[in-house]
Amino acid sequence: MKIISLVGARPNFMKIAPFIKAIDKYNSSEFRVQGSGLTINHILVHTGQHYDDRMSRAFFEALGIPDADINLGIGSGSHAEQVGNTMIAFEKVLKQEKPDWVVVVGDVNATLAGSVTAKKEHIKCAHIEAGLRSGDMKMPEEVNRLITDRLSDLLFTPDRISNENLHKEGVVESRIRFVGNIMIDTLEANREKAAQLKLNDIITDNLLFNRDFKTPEENNFAVLTLHRPSNVDHKDIFEPIVDFLMHEVGKDMPLIWPVHPRARKQLELFGLWEKLEKHENVIFLHPVGYHQMLRMNMGARLLLTDSGGLQEECTILGTPCLTLRWNTERPVTLREHGGASVLVGNNIERLRKEYNYTKHLDRNPVRPELWDGYTADRIVEELVKFGK
Ligand code: UD1
Repeated sequence: MKIISLVGARPNFMKIAPFIKAIDKYNSSEFRVQGSGLTINHILVHTGQHYDDRMSRAFFEALGIPDADINLGIGSGSHAEQVGNTMIAFEKVLKQEKPDWVVVVGDVNATLAGSVTAKKEHIKCAHIEAGLRSGDMKMPEEVNRLITDRLSDLLFTPDRISNENLHKEGVVESRIRFVGNIMIDTLEANREKAAQLKLNDIITDNLLFNRDFKTPEENNFAVLTLHRPSNVDHKDIFEPIVDFLMHEVGKDMPLIWPVHPRARKQLELFGLWEKLEKHENVIFLHPVGYHQMLRMNMGARLLLTDSGGLQEECTILGTPCLTLRWNTERPVTLREHGGASVLVGNNIERLRKEYNYTKHLDRNPVRPELWDGYTADRIVEELVKFGK
């Protein structure tokens, strides 16, 4: 059975790593012989959407992902350019390779382009992390999720809320497989290695501005990530957030901020970049590696983020999390569902109120159903059962 997986952006890489490992395990296992006897021939395609070493290659190396067999070299651009160029290039790959399945993960532009191209070539498509819904059509990822789920033959869901979302849209049960969260496979496989890292080394390795810093004390620092267009693309939204973070969070405890390329570009555009350098309590870093982020999350008093994956990692690690969004496609991570995070949008009053409460909370790890580290094995088993 021939499978092509397509990845493009950073959050895809931690989702594909366990899938590739599970295929290798399957190919060398007794299950294969007792079961269908099928061997899986896997081809990895990278669209090239994320191309910086720190956004891409570092993750392949750290997570033991083999080099992509094919890189489409798409690079940055508007959404239509990224999706259109990926489709044009990926169609050629599919015509040449004729796989039985295309596997797409998450909700980035590669996910959308991969599923549409596969179906137009009459190739079966499987979506890992299906059924998530924010209900926010202004979020590019929501559009990607809706189309990908509408087209995919197999929908691998991370939680039962996602199954319900699909049911509400009329998706038949026979297409849905509740398998758990594949991100947590990666977290569990890398937890020990991350725990051995020293905070001081992480900061030294990634420092953005060349200046002295004091290593934060364990459990007494905050970590921030921001990259969503809804937060960083408008000066009237981004500037007050930055001011709050610098002056109020930074006054209480050191704040570590690995700056995403999109956020950096916007800060430069808005003329805020040089102003930032002067803030003593904020430690600015380049985008950090997988283990480094996990280690910082393990030691942080709280996280402030607009990322989806970090909300999930905070739930497992128990790190109190303020999510700078008005909605989430991952409600299972919210406090009201037993998780670690709370939605604060980008309203400063609300952010302040929740921050003042959250900074006193203790770490409280919880484990949603099937977030157990074995999701990828279940996915491979289901694909083999479905067959060619
Ligand atoms: C993409 C995903 C988003 C994901 C995020 C994680 C979509 C629609 N969005 O958003 O879901 O949460 O990745 O990072 O697919 N850039 C670099 N180096 C790179 C890549 C990008 O400097 O390696 C810069 C470019 O100037 C680019 C900007 O960052 O214009 C944004 O990159 P892009 O890939 O368009 O989207 P992300 O915001 O990263």
